[in-house]
Amino acid sequence: MNTPEPGPERIVPVDVQPHPYPAIIAPGGLAGLGAALRKRVKSPRAAVLTDENVRPLYAEQALAALRGAGFEPALITVPAGESSKSLERLAFVYDALAAAKIDRTSPLVTLGGGVIGDLGGFAAATWLRGIPFVQCPTTLEADVDASVGGKTAVNHPSGKNLIGAFYQPLFVLVDTLTLATLSDRDYRAGLAESIKHAVIQDAEFFDWHAQNVERILSRDPATLGALVEHNIRIKAAVVARDERETTGLRALLNFGHTVGHAIETAMARRGAPWRHGEAVAAGMVAAAEMSVVSGRLDRSAAEKIIDLIARFGLPITAPLKGHEAELMEVMTADKKVAAGKLRFVLADAIGHATLYDDIQPEWIEAGLRRCLAVS
Ligand SMILES: NC(=O)c1ccc[n+]([C@@H]2O[C@H](COP(=O)([O-])OP(=O)(O)OC[C@H]3O[C@@H](n4cnc5c(N)ncnc54)[C@H](O)[C@@H]3O)[C@@H](O)[C@H]2O)c1
Ligand SMILES: [Zn+2]
Repeated sequence: MNTPEPGPERIVPVDVQPHPYPAIIAPGGLAGLGAALRKRVKSPRAAVLTDENVRPLYAEQALAALRGAGFEPALITVPAGESSKSLERLAFVYDALAAAKIDRTSPLVTLGGGVIGDLGGFAAATWLRGIPFVQCPTTLEADVDASVGGKTAVNHPSGKNLIGAFYQPLFVLVDTLTLATLSDRDYRAGLAESIKHAVIQDAEFFDWHAQNVERILSRDPATLGALVEHNIRIKAAVVARDERETTGLRALLNFGHTVGHAIETAMARRGAPWRHGEAVAAGMVAAAEMSVVSGRLDRSAAEKIIDLIARFGLPITAPLKGHEAELMEVMTADKKVAAGKLRFVLADAIGHATLYDDIQPEWIEAGLRRCLAVS
């Protein structure tokens, strides 16, 4: 893959039926939010959901763009962080939608990272049995993954994303300039999903990452545009063919996520929460190791994957050695368990993965050994 020039705007069609929609990627794209929305909805009212960190940075831009297109937008702000993906916070959002008199024709715009997209998407899916919504992601995680594909959810104490809906937005608007204010930690966390897409689908894209580590880490604008676009292309192609995760194709996007979600839950319980992407990074280390011990992947390919994760400054181990039983318990409560059987996405090669349900306990043990360290 070559690195193209930063064009003014890139559009990736997300071809889900019956309502395909575009993902619009543009530096400064937030300024066009109102016009893009006005083309699609007539309502005078709209709501914008954001978090306390994003609000002072980008809410005014979004509100001004909406006002400029004749909307009277209400702003709803929730605390930042994963804890906002809760039923309590959802209730707060419903109250705010009611107060803003959001009817069935009024859109909800989510402005923030994956937490805001997941929470707001689920609120939009369920308020009045569904109102129009738009994803304006502002983290790399949300740009390359969470904002596309229509998975919306809040968490339940027994696990992540257990309460949710498939609900597609009217469009996704990625303003890549918003990434300039993202912390290094959050930026790197987003790269985990990009590595994931490369490992499961695209060997050439994997090599591109390995060859462009510096440019990617320095957030070079042309590189960023290419990175986001290519990720959305991969995700959109998967989602268009298996929106509801029925054929097994979309399940491939869970590479690294079974162990990853368990690490994420365990770290949160310890009051030392990890970013989703960090947990996925360590989870991919486990999945790569499992792919080797189960005889599917060459050792050298697994080491290349683990090496790339490390080069992006992502964790390759989680400080949870000795807590394997707890992680197993969380994994079996995970919704990816089918008929009591743990299923894992394993890599057969870099660029190709398969969903397996004949998982031997020793493979999981080997995966955990590789990705856990003493605290
Ligand atoms: N629906 C899906 O398909 C899907 C896919 C992947 C991940 N997810 C979910 O996404 C969530 C993780 O998303 P995330 O990593 O974006 O987390 P997040 O939404 O918590 O954002 C991370 C942090 O960055 C801050 N932030 C956001 N944009 C910023 C900006 N432009 N500048 C400065 N700070 C900014 C936020 O306030 C927050 O503190 C998880 O809950 C995960 O389950 C969902
Ligand atoms: Zn993820």
